[in-house]
Amino acid sequence: MKAEFVRITGDKKANRAAFERGGEIIRNGGLVAFPTETVYGLGANALDAEASKKIYAAKGRPSDNPLIVHIAELEDLWKIVKDVPENALKLADAFWPGPLTMILYKNENIPYETTGGLETVAVRFPSNIIAQRLIRESGGFIAAPSANLSGRPSPTKAEHVCEDLGDRIDMIIDGGNSNIGLESTIVDLTVDPPAVLRPGFYNADQIASVIGDVIHEKAFSGNENEAPKAPGMKYRHYAPKAEMVIVAGDNAAVASKINELVSEKQANGMKTAVICSSDTAPIYSADRVFSLGSTGNEDEIAAALFDTLRKADDESIDFIASEAFYTPRLGTAIMNRLKKAAGNNIINV
Ligand code: TXA
Ligand code: MG
Repeated sequence: MKAEFVRITGDKKANRAAFERGGEIIRNGGLVAFPTETVYGLGANALDAEASKKIYAAKGRPSDNPLIVHIAELEDLWKIVKDVPENALKLADAFWPGPLTMILYKNENIPYETTGGLETVAVRFPSNIIAQRLIRESGGFIAAPSANLSGRPSPTKAEHVCEDLGDRIDMIIDGGNSNIGLESTIVDLTVDPPAVLRPGFYNADQIASVIGDVIHEKAFSGNENEAPKAPGMKYRHYAPKAEMVIVAGDNAAVASKINELVSEKQANGMKTAVICSSDTAPIYSADRVFSLGSTGNEDEIAAALFDTLRKADDESIDFIASEAFYTPRLGTAIMNRLKKAAGNNIINV
């Protein structure tokens, strides 16, 4: 099956037809990939157990890894959770619609197939208006993980979705690039104090400024016998095919260490790449130098990251050395994704 592909443009009539078609597919239990402000999602009717199961099959995702339920009206939150605590209202007020996911106790309207068997449900109200319109057309509740094959970087463009899922789902809605480029911040409100399970566009300090102290769940160690709080954290994510290392420390020391590693790997016949900022890009001698943007513009760096990891695969890179990006606001989220891509392989110089 080849997915129907529709691009949202300035043509209102065509757009209306696209949303009606997408909504119809989801209401009938099918799968539609759609843009959000973070990354593209792979959507199905969150209230339909069979539809949720199809998501796992299409992604090749383990069925104990729960999905995020996307809504487009705040009132709809009350229809799927047991109760809405004060902290959820505060966070919704501050950050919804937007790149924040809250974990709450689910009610009987959400099947266990959507929550990977858990009593809790992850809920997000995205700000992307294409996502909102599709959610409304679909009946109000879209379960969606990122629209990539399990183990690949999350998609930030419709082309990424086509590469991974083009022949496994019913429809792809192209709404241009996801402008944030990192998945939502996940906050668990079923524990006391609340816990940030995944850093994202909003960092733990921003969450704490609204609801008081939060625990920052430590990055998963990689030991699959541990049960991490967000089940998805135990799986290897974003891993490019290349061997990857992050080099952290003082600028000059980082550059000389990276160039040393690159020469070593080149001597072994490997195709090498460096991931860096535009400020330091001219220093590197790798076969391919990927600049994510200026260190002064962390939003640009975040938005470029997943696309760059995919390019490294497309260009058959064997070895990637990346600079570290401990930028002020998004640094925790960027480094979380980068460390996962590198399998926690960091050299401090
Ligand atoms: O920005 C995003 O969040 C994107 C877009 C499409 O909205 N979605 C996304 O979904 O990143 P996914 O499935 O790739 O990541 C969802 C994460 C997983 O790590 C999963 O384990 C966790 O959320 N999660 C979902 N429900 C949970 C629950 N009830 N308790 C704990 N963690 C949960
Ligand atoms: Mg994902």
